[in-house]
This record gives sequence, C-alpha cells and structure tokens, in this order.
Amino acid sequence: MPDPSVAIVTGAAHGIGRATSELLAIRGANVVAQDIDAQALTWTDGWPNVQPHPGDVRSESDNQDLVEATLSSFGAIDTLVLNAGVTAPGSLDHLPLEQFDRVLDVNLRGTVLGLRAAIEPLRTSSRAAVVMTASVSGLGGDPGMWAYNVAKGGVVNLVRAAAVDLARHGIRVNGVCPGPTRTAMTAGIEEASPETFEGLRRQTLLQRWGQPEEIAEVIHFLASPASSFITGVCIPVDGGLTANTGQFPPLRID
Ligand SMILES: NC(=O)c1ccc[n+]([C@@H]2O[C@H](COP(=O)([O-])OP(=O)(O)OC[C@H]3O[C@@H](n4cnc5c(N)ncnc54)[C@H](O)[C@@H]3O)[C@@H](O)[C@H]2O)c1
Repeated sequence: MPDPSVAIVTGAAHGIGRATSELLAIRGANVVAQDIDAQALTWTDGWPNVQPHPGDVRSESDNQDLVEATLSSFGAIDTLVLNAGVTAPGSLDHLPLEQFDRVLDVNLRGTVLGLRAAIEPLRTSSRAAVVMTASVSGLGGDPGMWAYNVAKGGVVNLVRAAAVDLARHGIRVNGVCPGPTRTAMTAGIEEASPETFEGLRRQTLLQRWGQPEEIAEVIHFLASPASSFITGVCIPVDGGLTANTGQFPPLRID
C-alpha cells in the first residue's frame, strides 16, 4: 500500500539520509531532502516526490525555512528524520575546542533546532513521528571519538526527553543507533586504516559492515504507523555489536 505521508529528512545528500529519503519516496511519501551539500542533492533529479532543500541544520532560520517550504509544497509534516551528522576524531588532550563545538552544533544542537521548528505542524498530524539518527557511539566511548560520543550520547537522551515532552501532542520520538555503516562518513577508513576497518567488521556479531539501506528500513519502520506503540527508544542497528560485552574471545567454529 502506498504511504501518502509528508516527510523531512536532514543530511539527505549522502549515505543514510539519502537511502532513507529514497525508501520513504519509493513507499509513497512526499519527501523534502535537506542538506548543506547543495550540489550532491542533485540525486533527487528524476524523483518526482522528492524535493531538494539546501540548508544548514545549525541555523535556526534555515530550519524554519525548511518547515515553511515543506508546508507550502505539501501542506503537512508527518515524519521528521533528523539525521545530519559529522565526526571529528581527536583525543581529549589534542582536539581543538572549535571541533568539539562543531560536532555538538551539527549533531546535537542541529537536531534540537530541527525538532523545535517542526513541533507545531507535527502536532496537527494524526501520525506524527520523529526519528533521530544517534549512533552506537552514543551508548559508550570510542578511542579518539569523545566529541562524537558526547554529541550522540546527547541525541540518545534527547530521544527520551523529547518523547516524554511531546507525547501530550501525540508526537512519537524514536532513534536509531547505527553501527559501522558504509557511507561517505566512513569511506576513508578502509584506505587510511585497514586495521580499524577490519576491527570494526569483526566487532559485529554478523561479521560485516552495514549498508545505509539497512538503517533506512528501521527508520522507515519507526516513522510509520507499524510502530504506533513505540516511543522514546533508540534501536541499535549494528549487526549485534552492542550485544557482545567483548570480554571473551569468540567461540571457535566446530
Ligand atoms: N556511517 C556510520 O557508520 C554511522 C554510524 C552511526 C551513526 N551515523 C550517523 O548517521 C547519520 C548519517 O551519516 P552517514 O553515515 O550517512 O554520513 P554521510 O556523511 O554520508 O551523511 C551525512 C550528511 O549530513 C550532511 N551534513 C553535514 N553537516 C550538515 C549541516 N550542518 N547541515 C545539513 N546537513 C549536513 C552531509 O552533507 C551529509 O550529506 C549521521 O548522524 C551519523 O553521525 C553514521
């Protein structure tokens, strides 16, 4: 059955955001695909129900424009996927504070701004659903990734806090915590450090990296009425990475 909803997806030029926009559109939604990389949004050419919208999630007025453009094109907002994100590797004693600010600004403050801009129109939807892209890195620490760990940890608890706050308006809020996923964000790892790339693969129980389409499926589920009794949770989509304490070596194949 086609799904006649209206969705906004941030960080939609590449990776998980693009895969999510495509999946929502294929299943019948009208999608506004937002990204700071205007050039890369040209993938939407030839997608009649995907509208590109260049913008920066760090800007309050850009978030307001995004909501207004969506309402003027489609008259409603049912689904809000807050997905834009960046990383900044560097240890606690070396990472410049400006990088910490940037990671917090895009991943956490940008998510807050996007949510606040859309609350009013979401209130009038009978199936309002917000999905935030957090990360397994929001559930613990990674070496040299503390800024990202802090930002995504904030997103994980923002999911809960926003679900608690917005339930009275009938707005569900959930999140996904992807594990290592093959996107533009992680594209350089294999070449720069084959050991890290292979280590991440081995950390997953399924012994492989994820694809953006596999994350998009779970975002679609959380955005759809199929998940109508779920709010305030972050689902790990990580090939089992967070299920394993990692204390013991893996069992040998018999
Ligand atoms: N790839 C992974 O392994 C992985 C794992 C866990 C979580 N995530 C999260 O998934 C989300 C999507 O990342 P991805 O892996 O698809 O990476 P990606 O780099 O392919 O996509 C991120 C998108 O966000 C956009 N963006 C960056 N800053 C922006 C801004 N200020 N305003 C608007 N758009 C902006 C980028 O242009 C890009 O298109 C991010 O929040 C990321 O932190 C990714």
